[in-house]
Amino acid sequence: MYNVRKVTEDLFWVGANDHRLHLFENIHPIPRGVSYNAYVLTDEQTVLFDTVDWSACRQLLENLDHVLAGRPLDYLVIHHMEPDHGASIQEILLRYPQVKVISSAKAFTMMKQFGFSTGDHECVEVKEGSTLSFGKHSLTFLSAPMVHWPEVLVSLDTTNGALFSADAFGSFGALDGALFADEVNFDRDWIDDARRYYTNIVGKYGPQVQALLKKASGLLDQIKFICPLHGPVWRENLSYFVEKHDLWSRYEPEDRGVLIAYASMYGNTEEAAQGLATRLYERGVKNVVVHDVSNSHVSYLIADAFRLSHIVLASVTYNLGIYPVMHNFISDMKALNLQNRTVGLIENGTWAIKSGELMQKELEGMKNMTVLPDKLTLTSSLPAERACDLDAFADALAASVKG
Ligand code: FEO
Repeated sequence: MYNVRKVTEDLFWVGANDHRLHLFENIHPIPRGVSYNAYVLTDEQTVLFDTVDWSACRQLLENLDHVLAGRPLDYLVIHHMEPDHGASIQEILLRYPQVKVISSAKAFTMMKQFGFSTGDHECVEVKEGSTLSFGKHSLTFLSAPMVHWPEVLVSLDTTNGALFSADAFGSFGALDGALFADEVNFDRDWIDDARRYYTNIVGKYGPQVQALLKKASGLLDQIKFICPLHGPVWRENLSYFVEKHDLWSRYEPEDRGVLIAYASMYGNTEEAAQGLATRLYERGVKNVVVHDVSNSHVSYLIADAFRLSHIVLASVTYNLGIYPVMHNFISDMKALNLQNRTVGLIENGTWAIKSGELMQKELEGMKNMTVLPDKLTLTSSLPAERACDLDAFADALAASVKG
């Protein structure tokens, strides 16, 4: 059964929702599912923008069949070749023998690498500034390398103002009927998944996202819709989401507040982390979030690290090193280029306490990370008579958050 929505008079969402996939890219949990967005334009020529993951191909085919209503498919535009969007290319080519494929040179190379043969189909290579007309509608292409792969293109339909933004402006979460961001309470129900999607999937490429935002800023008055490859389509209040991406891609926090991430084996480091959270609220700090790194998936830690201005890393010493799950979180922050944060350190150990010094060294390898001068050291536990040390740590942190 088809499941289609109109974006405009002659532009249709023909994608699919996926609630069966548990781990996006086989790594990030998606408890609310994900959508693979594809769109069809029914102009004088018909155009399919991107495909879907192989698991959702059947839904795409039924949707496409319904919208085309017997018309041939003339063009397939591939903005992004990652298999969650490109895996159904071959099936489209088999079913629509006349279809011409429009994409970047790099994407055509990737199609070969993934084993998708374009065979006898005409291939139209486009790049920055290329324009194509399909009748009433004209499309201008912009290259968006590393947002999120090197071959990525975005395109603007200069007739209806639809920006096909590839992975940019996407979100985790299945649409479940609500295509437009203004049909849901995005700031309440979606922003956390959008942030987790951006920071973990595209977060590393802040400068490239900035470059794309700069290009798009010259076209802002023309952009009426943002049509991403995942998550809702934007047709109202575009600046809300654009501004979030501007902050994220400049690695600037959204809120002043503290992420307390702790690694605890027997609950003693956890007690210190919880005691710190209490003291921060007592000192008037808002936005304190506590995560046990062994129980919160790292993608949630990353999202909160991007959101908040301050981070506390509290880790036991393990095999004379940083607790492995904490080490993984720090490595991920490094890999995603997180910068411009203030960090407090809490270390613990029963002998040869090393985790504080080692975490500090890791942070020194990152850009513009300020480590608060006095780390808190626990020797197995934090006894009540040392409450004043936790108070002092909270004082310094609260003063820094309040600026
Ligand atoms: Fe949703 Fe980079 O693919």
